[in-house]
Amino acid sequence: MFTLTLGKKLVIQQVVRFLIITSLCALLLNGYYKVNSHFLLLSHANSLGEIVLGIRQLEESFLLKEEIDFKKLLNSIDLAKLKLESLKNERKRIKSKDLIQHMMQEFDLYASELDLLKHTLGNNSSSLEIFQVIKRKGEDLSLSMNSLVKTEQNYVKGVIESFAWLLLSIIAVAMIAGIIEFLWLWEKLFLPLKTIANATHDIALNKFVPFQVRKGKDEINNIFRAINTMTVDLEKQRKSLVEAQKLSSIGTLAAGTAHQLNNPLNNISTSCQIAIDEIENISDPEFIKELLIDIEQEVQRASDTVKGLLEFSRTHQFNLAPVDLREVTNKVLRLIAGEIPSGIAVEQTVPSHITLLLDSQKMTEALLNIVTNSMQAIDKHPGNVLITAQALPEEDKVVVQVKDNGKGIPPKNVQSIFDPFFSTKNSKEGTGLGLSVAYGIIKKHNGSISVESEVACGTVFTITLPWHKELQNF
Ligand SMILES: Nc1ncnc2c1ncn2[C@@H]1O[C@H](COP(=O)(O)OP(=O)(O)OP(=O)(O)O)[C@@H](O)[C@H]1O
Ligand SMILES: [Mg+2]
Repeated sequence: MFTLTLGKKLVIQQVVRFLIITSLCALLLNGYYKVNSHFLLLSHANSLGEIVLGIRQLEESFLLKEEIDFKKLLNSIDLAKLKLESLKNERKRIKSKDLIQHMMQEFDLYASELDLLKHTLGNNSSSLEIFQVIKRKGEDLSLSMNSLVKTEQNYVKGVIESFAWLLLSIIAVAMIAGIIEFLWLWEKLFLPLKTIANATHDIALNKFVPFQVRKGKDEINNIFRAINTMTVDLEKQRKSLVEAQKLSSIGTLAAGTAHQLNNPLNNISTSCQIAIDEIENISDPEFIKELLIDIEQEVQRASDTVKGLLEFSRTHQFNLAPVDLREVTNKVLRLIAGEIPSGIAVEQTVPSHITLLLDSQKMTEALLNIVTNSMQAIDKHPGNVLITAQALPEEDKVVVQVKDNGKGIPPKNVQSIFDPFFSTKNSKEGTGLGLSVAYGIIKKHNGSISVESEVACGTVFTITLPWHKELQNF
């Protein structure tokens, strides 16, 4: 389908605006010339009026003194006819054309009556009669004259009025066009620009959400599509970066794991050596048993290290099912019960009946890692670790927090704590995998984890998980 780009629409808009303004200007100019020409006409009509007035005064002198200046009177009539003629020819659009024609005839009649009067002078009765006729003709002339002036005045008045209406219409049209243009620009330009600004803001916050592209192929839609493509590319790059980081971490992880395995293997080897030496002289079975228990523990340690490596590198097949969150936290407390040092209290205030879609085992593992860290971070007693949870149905999420009053995390380390193998503990105490594993598990649940910490005061880990209304009566 044929679609116009925004640029073309703007050009068409400007051309239409130019045409409208030009035609309105032409109308105004035409009106101006009309008014101007009729003003000239009015001034001519006025001078004609003065001539008619002069003629009438000469008539008066005949009535008073019984004498008349025929020459002057006829000259005035000729002058008036000339003026009329010039008016008639000069102004093609004159409204009183017929009236002028009529006045010409009246002047001719007036002149012929005068001629008659000239020849009957001396004969009092007939000259008085003729003079009465002349007087009436003079009055007719005055009336015609007034009518001519009035007609032209009315016409000029009409033109000026239409002029005012035209101006008002121009202002109204300009205002309506301005409002329409503003609304159009608001919808087509300002709103999309705002959407683009929000999108770039989201991208800056690492939120790569493509937005809805409206129909059409204008420039703004092209920008929308370009940003969407960029968003998808950025998301892909981010994912591949995470994968690349993961891969490079696996190398480090392998080295770390080798190191971690070396210790238990050495211990196993030593225990085996001693056991071999002692086996021939089996006088002390308890000692052999201790050695075997040591070996079993070291095997367990090695197995844990290998499990950690697998956990990190394997793509987990999660088994999500509705689970009461409190069951998970209870399990965490049960698992660590035997390892809580004296002087430290680990508690929870998680309400029951918050049902979430969880892989119970994995979530237990994630929380276990976080709670273990908290316990390990407490160097002053009494210490406490508290697990809390709060459902926020209006935001469709649940917030789980693990708070401790341990030594806190220095700001320079905060960025790194979720990195695999980042640890401030010695190699016997920690591998640096706990939080990276927890991070991966929470991400798989479409959740997020963040940390706030103050050195010497304590740390709060905040986990956000999706909350589903329909699960709550499960
Ligand atoms: N609650 C906490 N208080 C203070 N520091 C913490 C806390 N939790 C984590 N950390 C810091 O983050 C680092 C990384 O933690 P992580 O659990 O990933 O590894 P780790 O505990 O050192 O080793 P692992 O858990 O693999 O045995 C820790 O070494 C510690 O410095
Ligand atoms: Mg840990």
